[in-house]
Amino acid sequence: MKVLVVGGGGREHALCWKISQSPIVERTYCALGNAGISRHAECLDIDVGDFDSLAQFVKKESVDLTVVGPEQPLCEGITDFFEKEGLLIFGPSKAAAELEGSKIFSKDLMKKYGIPTGEYFVFTDMEQAIAKAGETEPPFVVKADGLAAGKGVIICHSHKEGEDAVRSMMERGAFGEAGAKVVIEEFLTGEEASFFAFTDGENILPLEPSQDHKPIFDGDKGPNTGGMGAYTPAPVVDDRLRQRIIDEVMIPTVRAMKSERRTYRGILYAGLMIKDNDLKVLEFNCRFGDPEAQPLLMKMESDIVPILYSIARGEMNTDPIEWKDGFCVCVVMASRGYPGSYDKGVELKKLKDFKDTRETVIFHAGTTFSGDKFVTSGGRVLGVTSLGNTIEESIQGAYKAVDSISDQNLIYRTDIGKKALLRIGC
Ligand code: AMP
Ligand code: GLY
Repeated sequence: MKVLVVGGGGREHALCWKISQSPIVERTYCALGNAGISRHAECLDIDVGDFDSLAQFVKKESVDLTVVGPEQPLCEGITDFFEKEGLLIFGPSKAAAELEGSKIFSKDLMKKYGIPTGEYFVFTDMEQAIAKAGETEPPFVVKADGLAAGKGVIICHSHKEGEDAVRSMMERGAFGEAGAKVVIEEFLTGEEASFFAFTDGENILPLEPSQDHKPIFDGDKGPNTGGMGAYTPAPVVDDRLRQRIIDEVMIPTVRAMKSERRTYRGILYAGLMIKDNDLKVLEFNCRFGDPEAQPLLMKMESDIVPILYSIARGEMNTDPIEWKDGFCVCVVMASRGYPGSYDKGVELKKLKDFKDTRETVIFHAGTTFSGDKFVTSGGRVLGVTSLGNTIEESIQGAYKAVDSISDQNLIYRTDIGKKALLRIGC
């Protein structure tokens, strides 16, 4: 069969890497792709927002299945468009992707169906939002309602920061329409975890728990990024908690979406805050996480293609996913300056000498070719991902590869996986 992956970051590299290994796949395409993806898939020069050209390509080449990586095309209705054209696609409809596309929709859904989440208030009027920011005990969180490329969440440590956050969204339009409405939310403390489940709208097929590292600096310091590293399984989610996440979050959400006539088919991503016995949803996303997909897909033993294909057809097989033993860690290497401004087109001199192995794979995010040289083209550049029998072994494997390709143009955290190490050690 022929598969098209939509997107061009680290998550899509991991998807193309995994999909192209399937014995039932003869050809993989990726729009837009990147320099690393071009080793596993034919990269197409079609924008992820150009649904018409994507569908035309799929028809012309008789592609059997399209798999969507990023949230933007899902929230803009790529699935509805493809389905109208009679094409099979993996990813939720526009109405279902609202779970990520609107914080207000997702918070209201959680409240209505008793899914645990923080206290919140919704504002469409700026003066009322400022008044709330002025009377709420800091810290608290101001969130733009719509998609804001991972930047629409501001943690406010004073009333003044709260007012500035509200003004930046509602007055100065920092996130355009996405910030026309805001949520002011209770600040939650604890340890974050990411939990994913495939779903056909009725049943769920859970993945192993994982953990992202959002802030740019070691020790979770500095501004938030798209994610500087991830690992799986995350020991903060033990078997008991895993079952609670399934029973209290994943199944009720899939049922709630069905009751709301927004049946959710695809992969459901819950960002969770865990403290002692307390479990709360920070957010839902309608896609694989980036960088969580990199270690999860490397550790997945089962063929992913029958799962994606069956969900696209609306009838998922619920046989549990098989996993390789041990742990998998992904260390993200980013352009110096990220998440602020950074240079592009910087040569990655040592990359061509690195050969992926069974244990260690370098997934590309913001890379492209300049002639036959790898150069940077984005903030997050590489996801160095390593399997190991123990968490120590996978951390060591990842950092050994990081050392072998690192140069002064790339930055990375040196403590990815440390929380798991501390938890297992104690
Ligand atoms: P979100 O896009 O809603 O997941 O927010 C991005 C990041 O902001 C999360 O991964 C958390 O690190 C942080 N965050 C979001 N909401 C809260 C909250 N209510 N309390 C504490 N941190 C939060
Ligand atoms: N890992 C963060 C995200 O994918 O949104």
